Amino acid sequence: MDNFIKTEKFRGCLSGAIIIPPDKSLSHRCLILGSLVKDKIKISNLSLGEDCISTLNILKNSGIKAEFISKRDLILDSSKGFCEPKCELDCGNSGTSVRLLSGLFSSLPYKVKFIGDKSLSKRPMKRIIEPLSLMGSKINSNENKLPLEITGGSLKGITYYSSVPSAQVKSAILIAGLNASGTTRVYEKFLSRNHTEIMLKYLGASIITGHDEKGYFTEVKKSSLMPKNLEISGDISSAAFLMTAGAIVPNSKILIKNVNINPTRMGILKVFDKIGADYEILNKKTLSGEESADILIKYKKDLKPFKIEGEIIPELIDEIPILAVLASTINGRCVVKDAGDLRNKESDRIKTITEAFKMLGIDIEEKPDGFIINGGKEINKEVTLETHLDHRLAMSYYIISLINEKPMIIKDFNCTKTSFPEFSDIINSIKK
Ligand code: S3P
Repeated sequence: MDNFIKTEKFRGCLSGAIIIPPDKSLSHRCLILGSLVKDKIKISNLSLGEDCISTLNILKNSGIKAEFISKRDLILDSSKGFCEPKCELDCGNSGTSVRLLSGLFSSLPYKVKFIGDKSLSKRPMKRIIEPLSLMGSKINSNENKLPLEITGGSLKGITYYSSVPSAQVKSAILIAGLNASGTTRVYEKFLSRNHTEIMLKYLGASIITGHDEKGYFTEVKKSSLMPKNLEISGDISSAAFLMTAGAIVPNSKILIKNVNINPTRMGILKVFDKIGADYEILNKKTLSGEESADILIKYKKDLKPFKIEGEIIPELIDEIPILAVLASTINGRCVVKDAGDLRNKESDRIKTITEAFKMLGIDIEEKPDGFIINGGKEINKEVTLETHLDHRLAMSYYIISLINEKPMIIKDFNCTKTSFPEFSDIINSIKK
């Protein structure tokens, strides 16, 4: 076994204050949109997760200068513009890198090749190949999977109806549209995270957003971006592991500071409302156009079951593994529906979660687009769990270990570094 951790039965509670590390989605966008401002800007509080470092390295290999002035603060200098990269562009495990950067490189006059790790190489790319090709990008792929070879150049605007509610697809098209002729309009049935739109408005792009009979739309025109410094708030998808741990480990009380609370990411808090969890939102503020706040979460007995489906799914798509853990502790029937795209994440999360939960003795039924969990029974199984290089599974299984009566082994635990390298240190700092 390459790397793994062995957990022991936990007899304590979680208590204390923590600062949640920076948001992954915002970090990718600060780097990518920042590279388009043709000047020097400061990016404060950048995620040091491997996914965002992949994006940073690709930009550096393409002529953009970047220098850390402290642990998480970076000066990005795009004043000399891009140049043709001399190497393959390695996106590692990061779907956001390959999809958003495909939009960027479609609009640049170079030939590039994107590669990735075993997990990323299995993920579908047709969702971006189709719209970017319609805009004029030439893309070769391995049957709509990586590696992707992109020959970019002059693009024309399109109107595109995205069949998957995906912020990555929407963002790839909008980024390409910043350098396309005419207007580029993207429609989606349900609103996915809108960080790209907010940041583009903040940086002065020509962009409008709205809703009509065809769905939610965003429209951009060719724009140059203003050089403004960007500050990143903490990642609610990382906070979700601690929020859930606080809600289910008896006697816990955790203050999670500086969490991004963009309404398109608030699905988990809507679930917490439904189940009657004990939490408070404190100290709201705005950073670079995005709202953030502190979240105080306390353990509560007898949480109520939940059902999630439809419009809420994009608002909590990355939180479904940890919400499954939450469901396993709740007396009654919890249902996750309309979440078929979970099969296209870092692992097929419907299948991998079902397999792991069955090994743990949790009553779970796999469905094509989700699962049903009848929770509330004691978890009392000594098991070895595979993470399939999926960071969110690794962290979800760790949270289960806090309520499992028996020790567990979690394989490839280092994959937590994809989004949340500080996970183990932070959780250890509040174990009492
Ligand atoms: C992301 C969008 C989501 C999410 C991913 C990050 C983004 O993917 O799962 O972790 O930063 O745009 P989809 O938009 O493809 O669902």
